[in-house]
Amino acid sequence: MKPFVKPQHREAWKALQVLSQSAQPHLRELLKDPKRIDQWQVSGAGISIDYSRQRVTTEVLQQLLALADESQVMAQAEAMFRGDAINATEERAVLHVALRGSHVPNPPWGQSISKQVGDELLRVCMFAEKVREGQLKGHAGESITDVVNLGIGGSDLGPRMTTEALSHLTRESYKNKVRVHYVSNVDAWSLYTTLATLNPARTAFVVQSKTFTTQETMTLATSAKRWLLDAGCPEGQLHQHLIAVTANPQISQAQGFSPEHTFGFWDWVGGRYSVWSAIGLPLAISIGAFAFQDMLLGARAMDEHFMSAPKDQNLPLLMALLGVWNRNFLGATTHNIAPYASPLGKFASFLQQMDMESNGKRTHIDGSPVEVATAPVLWGGLGIDGQHAYFQLIHQGQHLVPMDFIGLRTERSPLPFAAEHHRVVLLNMQAQAQALAIGRSPEETVQALRDSGVDEAEVQRLAPHRSYPGNVPSTTIWVDALTPRSMGALMALYEHKVFCQAAIWGIHAYDQWGVELGKKMAKDMEA
Ligand code: F6P
Repeated sequence: MKPFVKPQHREAWKALQVLSQSAQPHLRELLKDPKRIDQWQVSGAGISIDYSRQRVTTEVLQQLLALADESQVMAQAEAMFRGDAINATEERAVLHVALRGSHVPNPPWGQSISKQVGDELLRVCMFAEKVREGQLKGHAGESITDVVNLGIGGSDLGPRMTTEALSHLTRESYKNKVRVHYVSNVDAWSLYTTLATLNPARTAFVVQSKTFTTQETMTLATSAKRWLLDAGCPEGQLHQHLIAVTANPQISQAQGFSPEHTFGFWDWVGGRYSVWSAIGLPLAISIGAFAFQDMLLGARAMDEHFMSAPKDQNLPLLMALLGVWNRNFLGATTHNIAPYASPLGKFASFLQQMDMESNGKRTHIDGSPVEVATAPVLWGGLGIDGQHAYFQLIHQGQHLVPMDFIGLRTERSPLPFAAEHHRVVLLNMQAQAQALAIGRSPEETVQALRDSGVDEAEVQRLAPHRSYPGNVPSTTIWVDALTPRSMGALMALYEHKVFCQAAIWGIHAYDQWGVELGKKMAKDMEA
């Protein structure tokens, strides 16, 4: 194996440093090139990105691509797809990509993994359909109508976010009105507000936990059992209302979950990358097994794009490189995710875990300290709401906040006036991206105020407050419509972006030791 090289010692990194210290054109200048918008667009797996508003020149882009080469990003990706134990501190392979490729002939991870994945996927899909058809019966013989997911982190965010993003399918396809609820917080109020509306005889709980030891989830599961017992469910029939999804079935079965109601996944699936596994069960119940499989196909399409597209056309790689440029060379400490589609309201939270739990690291793969910046603070929420709240800081505050605008080409709302709403949404998204990029200089502001008839003393008083520095970099990500396929591709796009950045920074993306100390202390304090 080649000795590890710190990122800042790579030739391309040094060249990028020189470039970032030399005068770089303002986005206002770059965007004067009428060809820029067309030239700085890339598509794949049904998704397009427009990165014309990133602060990169052709020279910068070339060096970023050279950095990817020097860091052997694609060779590292091949190692992941092959099932090498790239999660070295836990001595595990990282194969969430196998979860959406069990149909692929000659997969790099091997037939035996594909077989295990395919078998479990079939069990999950059949069970989801059984629930949807009202065939899952509670202790009193009544059909289950409400499924409550108990889980946290990766055992909550992926299925919760996608259930909301694809909720139009829930409405379109429900035959028996099964509703799916999510409770992640051990705060009793959270459980109470969900249970208060439900009938215990018709409620089932999906307890999702890779380890089946997470204190919060286990506490919720115990209380859920208590609630069922208090409502008259005989102890011996509790298992009819309980479903476990875990990589640790010994523990779940010791707690009374039946083998038929236990769905498994493997230690090579990281929690934050697990929505493609049996962890997607509540989603499959919500949108149907076929739609769930379509989401896997969307992610697979992005996997194929990632592994085959030329580097300068490779969506995840380009997004990763732009992120590295912003973080390491332009000094951006945060990154905002702004979807302009209300069903994506939880997308930023989902990405927060994926990105920050993966790349919030300070130790290189060889154990040496990292001396460059790694993951930015990723945050965000619906762009339209953000415009009327925190966008002020992005326009005129002191942080450089690169943005991902996410827009839909088609809106699925059946309301007759949906097209008009969609027009307003996209108009705003594009206006924000442009305003953040070009800003308005003090001279232009003075002129604008004079043109609107403001008297000269007022012009001088107001101009500093009403000027905008601009030069805020952004990428606009275009998704055709919110479908299972496009959601699969969008999530996989970000997964591979995170992978590429870790490969460049030389850090482990798939462990999360940072969260362990607090858990241990909670246990110690309890003792
Ligand atoms: O504490 C962090 C974490 O371990 C995440 O990585 C994980 O997604 C979450 O907790 C839940 O873990 P589990 O699925 O084992 O309950």
